Amino acid sequence: MSDLQTTLEAARTDGLQAVADAADAASLEEVRVKLLGRKGVVTSSMKEMSKLPAAERPAIGRLANTVRDELQTAVQKKVATLKAGGRGGRNGIDVTLPGRRRRIGLKHPISRVMDDCVAIFRRLGFVAVDGPDLEDEYHNFDALNTPADHPSRDIQDTFYLQDGRLLRTHTSPVQIRVMRQQPPPVRIVAPGRCYRRDTPDATHSMNFHQIEGLYIDENVSMADLKATLLNFAHEMFGKAVKLQMRPHFFPFTEPSVEIDISCVNCRGDGCSICKNSGWLEIAGAGMVDPEVFNSVGYDYETYTGYAFGMGIERIAMLRYEINDIRLLYENDVRFLAQF
Ligand code: DAH
Repeated sequence: MSDLQTTLEAARTDGLQAVADAADAASLEEVRVKLLGRKGVVTSSMKEMSKLPAAERPAIGRLANTVRDELQTAVQKKVATLKAGGRGGRNGIDVTLPGRRRRIGLKHPISRVMDDCVAIFRRLGFVAVDGPDLEDEYHNFDALNTPADHPSRDIQDTFYLQDGRLLRTHTSPVQIRVMRQQPPPVRIVAPGRCYRRDTPDATHSMNFHQIEGLYIDENVSMADLKATLLNFAHEMFGKAVKLQMRPHFFPFTEPSVEIDISCVNCRGDGCSICKNSGWLEIAGAGMVDPEVFNSVGYDYETYTGYAFGMGIERIAMLRYEINDIRLLYENDVRFLAQF
């Protein structure tokens, strides 16, 4: 092996190492000059070649070219790495590698529907208010004109604490809290959690959500109620949706109705979702009972008002075509990632 060959091989090994070790642009440039500069190892070796016997020249010449090319490429790559990484290059971090994708969290479908409901009613002038999950019998039942022997008060339906308080069974007690705090007019919605001792199945959960609405002023009528909820249904489910009211009974409203929308799946023809009726119940509602006005000190001769309560899960299930309420609480990321 000729001296020149040894020199070139060494220049390759040491050179590549020196390029890799260069921590910044300045030291890399120093390395480059030493290797590839006019007086660098590779350049001088090439000049030395003329002294070799003619037979050895081609092989050494090829080696010299290869070493020069390899070193040049290594220097170029290193320049790019240092440029892209700034100080990162010094820490041995290869900033040219593709990044790792982080999964971004999404709003839960329940929260989305709740926020959308609130947004729709806010556009109509309603103010969103909050009430406590932990209630007392007065707000949850008595003030809402619910008789002492009403089945919903039963321990089989309501979670009671030992001190007599309870987990609210609906959002209606927020009506009472608001009315006791301010004189009419009132125009509020109250979204939140509710609790009932139901056995969980595809359509029942012990913990669910409602949005309550209350509008009180002079001359508020059933027609206002219908117009408001029709507007809501159009915004939530589209303009093709129709609305109907069916007579019903609630202790806190008189008259009381249940509100149906035309089936969002079959548009009223009849299907399994609407149990062939063409209609889907989405709310309970009515004109606030004078007894409720009495319990909060409102004058029922001067004021009238309507109230409504809707199930958020029901709306979410219709909107996203979910057939089992339990899916909403299992927090399976494969399920949640679809929304
Ligand atoms: N609170 C009722 C329920 O949980 C729903 C309801 C019906 C609310 C009529 C109202 C109303 O405000 O007027 O089933």
